[in-house]
Amino acid sequence: MNYKFSKYISEDAIKVQIVNTDNVEKFLSSELLQLTKFEGKYKQILHLPESKSVYIGVTKESTIKSIDVWNKVDYYELGANLVNSLAKTNYSKFILEGFSNTDNSIEVQKENLMRFCLGMYQAAWHLDSFLPENKAKTKKIILSISESDIHLKTLELEKEIDALTKGIILTRELIELPPQVINPSTIGEKINSELGDNPNISITLLDKAKLEQMKMGAFLAVGRASIHAPVLAHIVLTPSKNVKHRIALIGKGLTYDSGGLDIKISGFMKTMKIDMGGAATMFGIIKALSLLKLNHTEVHWISAFAENMLGGDAYKADDILTSYSGQTIEVFNTDAEGRLTLADALTYATLQNPDYIIDAATLTGACMRAVTEYFTALMGNDQELIDSLQEAFIEEQEKTVYVPMAEILREQVQGEIADLINTGKDPSMGGHITAGLFLSHFVDQNLFRNSELDIHSPKAYKWAHLDIAGSVYNKYKNSIGVDGATGQTVRSLVKFIQKIDIA
Ligand code: BES
Ligand code: ZN
Ligand code: ZN
Repeated sequence: MNYKFSKYISEDAIKVQIVNTDNVEKFLSSELLQLTKFEGKYKQILHLPESKSVYIGVTKESTIKSIDVWNKVDYYELGANLVNSLAKTNYSKFILEGFSNTDNSIEVQKENLMRFCLGMYQAAWHLDSFLPENKAKTKKIILSISESDIHLKTLELEKEIDALTKGIILTRELIELPPQVINPSTIGEKINSELGDNPNISITLLDKAKLEQMKMGAFLAVGRASIHAPVLAHIVLTPSKNVKHRIALIGKGLTYDSGGLDIKISGFMKTMKIDMGGAATMFGIIKALSLLKLNHTEVHWISAFAENMLGGDAYKADDILTSYSGQTIEVFNTDAEGRLTLADALTYATLQNPDYIIDAATLTGACMRAVTEYFTALMGNDQELIDSLQEAFIEEQEKTVYVPMAEILREQVQGEIADLINTGKDPSMGGHITAGLFLSHFVDQNLFRNSELDIHSPKAYKWAHLDIAGSVYNKYKNSIGVDGATGQTVRSLVKFIQKIDIA
């Protein structure tokens, strides 16, 4: 790892001073700072190389009237800004000071410190495995906390920072790695190497023969033309005490999406290595949770891994597939493959009888157009679940917008000669919403008609769907200065699960 906490304050470290409402007067009256334009305003950064110090403003006054809940002081972003603004220097050691602001409770002070460190570590990471050493961009970071803030740095906090950093970096690494490295043939090995040592984790990999026997007809069709056989991964993280809650996390796992026979046109295929971003997100979350340890929550991660390719045995538009749930689906477009793999993964998830099912998927281009590449679209069938997820996302300042799954659009995915069709009938009708509506048919066991499934009292499961097509990967530098895999969503879902665990 490229980061660590140090107990020792080293001579050559740069001092990072947070300028908050408590200390702003003192700093602004100092002669040194009066020579500059620094006022301690949020996001202002002042670097004084001679005195080896950096000042970061966090005082915020509202200027324009706004109800944007994503416009709060964000320490994660500030930590990243710091690393980005010093990118051209060779500082690696930092002493942090100024997190003990009396405006905030001690809990909030700790969270601010934690988010700042997380932001620094993420801005410092870059996928370097294909570059020679002299071109590597990952920066080494060693942090220590100044005497005045040392009470905030507990062992627990350090552990949490480490767990989240490892989780988020894993998510970003998996997304950035090319499809010849991460594909259905290799993913099992990666899961084993990251999680295999943990005695609280069980790993089940269902291979093609098993999936055929189980009749996962929708998932299998999507992966059929690839040289890599589809595989379904089911990972269970067992809590340290008795199970009171059970959560199923489902991640879209298309390790490459060429579009299939409805091939993506030039320019739109590039970056489709990110189509396993949902799976990578859940993988990162499990990694972080496995290091944090839960008391009462059993977490399942389920991903159907496949590669959407072309070939003589590729599935085609006009095919009618029988899903694992027994519901039939007429293929209208082979590029709407994600929902077919998710259909079977969601059906499988209901059989684990969880309290909540949450899926994350790079599902639609429509989502990206509707909510921009910075936002996740949040949909679902349970108000309470939506509300608590939204709360977690706002706390972590990870941009997410609630999109109602309007029933008026449901007819868009209903078929004539099959139960469902895999696109909306009218492509201009909120493609992200019709995709969500399609998925909803696979979390309600009352709609299932595969008699081989062992379902005695069918249940409609509480479910939330995150379309992360935009937020998982940013083409333009985002608010933490990242272009490429963002790692967004990991922090919020970990937070959400931690809250459930203590409920
Ligand atoms: N993986 C794509 C969605 C996507 C597009 C994710 C851009 C990230 C960036 C998905 O499988 C897809 O191709 N969806 C189609 C569905 C359409 C054919 C109904 C889309 O959104 O165009
Ligand atoms: Zn597609
Ligand atoms: Zn896709």
